[in-house]
Amino acid sequence: MTNSKSDRVLIFDTTLRDGEQSPGATMTHDEKLEIAEMLDEMGVDIIEAGFPIASEGDFQAVSDIARQSKNSTICGLSRANFKDIDRCAEAVRKAARPRIHTFIGTSPLHRAIPNLTRDEMADLIHETVSHARNLVDDVQWSPMDATRTEHDYLCRVIEIAIKAGATTINIPDTVGYTAPRESADLIRMLIDRVPGADEITFATHCHNDLGMATANALAAVEAGARQIECTINGLGERAGNTALEEVVMALKVRNDIMPYKTQVDTTRIMAISRRVAQVSGFPVQFNKAIVGKNAFAHESGIHQDGMLKNPENFEIMRPEDIGLAGTSLPLGKHSGRAALNAKLKDLGFDVGDNQLKDVFVRFKELADSKKEVFDDDLIALMTDGTDSANDRVQVKFLRVICGTEAPQSADLTLEIDGVDHQKTATGDGPVDATFNAIKGLFPHEARLQLYQVHAVTEGTDAQATVSVRMEESGKIVTGQSSDTDTVVASAKAYVNALNNLLVRREKTKPDAV
Ligand code: KIV
Ligand code: ZN
Repeated sequence: MTNSKSDRVLIFDTTLRDGEQSPGATMTHDEKLEIAEMLDEMGVDIIEAGFPIASEGDFQAVSDIARQSKNSTICGLSRANFKDIDRCAEAVRKAARPRIHTFIGTSPLHRAIPNLTRDEMADLIHETVSHARNLVDDVQWSPMDATRTEHDYLCRVIEIAIKAGATTINIPDTVGYTAPRESADLIRMLIDRVPGADEITFATHCHNDLGMATANALAAVEAGARQIECTINGLGERAGNTALEEVVMALKVRNDIMPYKTQVDTTRIMAISRRVAQVSGFPVQFNKAIVGKNAFAHESGIHQDGMLKNPENFEIMRPEDIGLAGTSLPLGKHSGRAALNAKLKDLGFDVGDNQLKDVFVRFKELADSKKEVFDDDLIALMTDGTDSANDRVQVKFLRVICGTEAPQSADLTLEIDGVDHQKTATGDGPVDATFNAIKGLFPHEARLQLYQVHAVTEGTDAQATVSVRMEESGKIVTGQSSDTDTVVASAKAYVNALNNLLVRREKTKPDAV
């Protein structure tokens, strides 16, 4: 328990639950395990790993994360019924520190959903929290839509949950409706009025619909909340959740006025931000606080001059504090393996000898097609989704014919399960023609939901990173690739998504373990 008198703030990351719940942000099993490991290593106190009753995949992910976790508490979400709670307990069972998080909507609007009277809901909260507490020692309870729940009723049900054994009470601003002063007043009121409030931890869980999630979470901490629920890059339903990197860095940089500490190793922020962006298919906006591409860029002459004289003129935190390399001198085709390795280390990629050998070959190919290879080019290279060794489908050859006259055409060779297949197709533009050729060679029902192109750096020889998202029978997969040729990057990203789809089909076959 971390009560309102302590200066320690617990960081509860829900990237793998609330974040992954956001439409289109689905991650594969292996990706979830990888993100959980990164969260564990960076010092996140509690990882909400998923919603075990939601699907077999969610259950497996939570239980595998529970098994692999070293330091973090592993939490699963469950609704207010015994079946959900039992499944959740089963999933977190192998964790060194398991937690069950159970919730029910308590506002007038949310009470109407299960059609329960206030008294009936109060009884259900008592029964379900007691049941969870009989299964594990660490139980978190959330009155969903707390910020729109009548204060008297909120105090009543929180008292019931504490008496039934809840050790953390989370106060969700489910619809992102509150504002900083109100967020603080609510926590203060609860600490004042609810018997037993001193014995538990209050948590704050904010959504960003009005762009106030970080401010609301910090205001709640100033009022006595000691757990912040957040996600990497602010991923989450609608406008997302409180961003982990924002609250952690705000508490670090403005510790003079917010004297609270977390145990997050901030130098790992950039690496996990990039990885979450890649696996979720949700790119980080350029001017996003802390992790945006421009967060430490100083373009104007006055700023650059000031920065050279003293970085503190325009920088309130150092790039190194979040794991960004200080300088950004580009590499070129004469750079050797040692220089590449040193640069990759600076960027947070620790590669073994074999991987370095492979990356070096790809780096040389890239350096041949563009003069200067910048940090962002290397990041794109390292996070490229294509893994030619294991992929069943690979792009072998592509030539497009473009011009002002439609239709454009694409001549494509794909290697499918070791055999080359060739097709020429036309389309409305070179990318459409290429995608039509892929569909002709590898027929599938998956629907393209998103196609996105980003220039990695400036200039006409810049690499493009292409992300695609596809849906098949309700399952979503993403693909990503980078190349100096946008059409090649598009073809490879599409094929990468297809390979991910094949892996997923294999895993969800009825006889798959
Ligand atoms: O936003 C919300 O209310 C939630 C609950 C399940 C805690 O995510
Ligand atoms: Zn939420």
